Amino acid sequence: FEVTWDASAAEKGGYDSFMAKEIAEQPHAVGDTLLGRTKDDGELVLDELRISEDQLKNVNRITFVACGTAAYSSLVAKYAIEHWTRIPVDVVLAHEFRYSDPIVDERTLVVSVSQSGETMDTLMAVKHAKDLGALTLSICNTQGATIPRESDAVLYTHAGPEVAVASTKAFLAQITAAYLLGLYLAQLRGGTFADDAKAVMTELREMPEKIQEVLDRMDRVIEMANFMADTRSVLFLGRHVGFPIALEGALKLKEIAYIHAEGFAAGELKHGPIALIEPGQPVFVIVPSPDTPHELHKKVVSNIQEIRARGARTLVIAHDGDEDVEPFASEIIRVPQCSPLMAPLLTVIPLQVFALHLAMAKGLDADQPRNLAKSVTVE
Ligand code: AGP
Repeated sequence: FEVTWDASAAEKGGYDSFMAKEIAEQPHAVGDTLLGRTKDDGELVLDELRISEDQLKNVNRITFVACGTAAYSSLVAKYAIEHWTRIPVDVVLAHEFRYSDPIVDERTLVVSVSQSGETMDTLMAVKHAKDLGALTLSICNTQGATIPRESDAVLYTHAGPEVAVASTKAFLAQITAAYLLGLYLAQLRGGTFADDAKAVMTELREMPEKIQEVLDRMDRVIEMANFMADTRSVLFLGRHVGFPIALEGALKLKEIAYIHAEGFAAGELKHGPIALIEPGQPVFVIVPSPDTPHELHKKVVSNIQEIRARGARTLVIAHDGDEDVEPFASEIIRVPQCSPLMAPLLTVIPLQVFALHLAMAKGLDADQPRNLAKSVTVE
């Protein structure tokens, strides 16, 4: 009698891949990143930051530096932090920042975002920022990694180890940590938003449950991916915080399913990308929640109508109860209702699941895509 034991299968905890396991762990990645960072009355406490309140109060500009998925979580955070703090926020790809002459001084907070904490370009961007006199803060998932050690301050994400090359749970945890930072800055600065910050925290704490709800609804997305194994190109459209989600959806598909994919800001359609629309072209559209400012919901619905009229296969990600999208959607993937800035924590999940199952349908190893390393420690 012989017991066979496969160490790698055991590490995957019953899932087919690390990526599948890490997607499933996302409610915990967000929940654990929030844990212990608020008092009972909702006030945020980020004592761990290693940076004084006075220094933070002095900040008049924030620049995020990151690569790949971490740059997209930073882009999501830009919308939220500017809204909550009124501090201008830029997001610069780390490899561009490190060789540029950025406008940075001691009142600039340079926030690096990195799952591994070892990405060479991001590390060099942090060093560049320090040389220029900026205050540096690292949002990182790996305790004691080089980037947090090189930074003045650190805010760890608690997503747990991420093994799959394609980043999933770290992305959600990065958005969560960056939101905590934004809310903390708003709290320190006082003013009208400080009170609303507690309401935002309450909603943030409800997100793990909603993320689980999305995960429980993925059957149709998996079916769609299985039918689409021969697809050669997929486009992604989003606006506001949905724009970085479109970029992230396209990146996931490129890196693990080797399919040509591009993400666009939906407002750009008429400035070029609409020429790509031909009959049968699959286009994911991330629809903002109906209460997104500036009637953006209505504008995205009319984008769906425009591309559908030109024959696109419209794969629409919309909130529960949003009936406006129904006439123009080839498929509707529903996510629970939430306020506009929380939506990225939900809308990205179908795109992760879609990429994973498309890779599987093509017989590819999603955990180890060709030509890529988990952590890019060279230039
Ligand atoms: C994400 O799916 C990619 N594998 C990649 O873009 C990654 O996010 C990027 O290389 C940054 O890595 P880091 O978070 O470890 O710095």
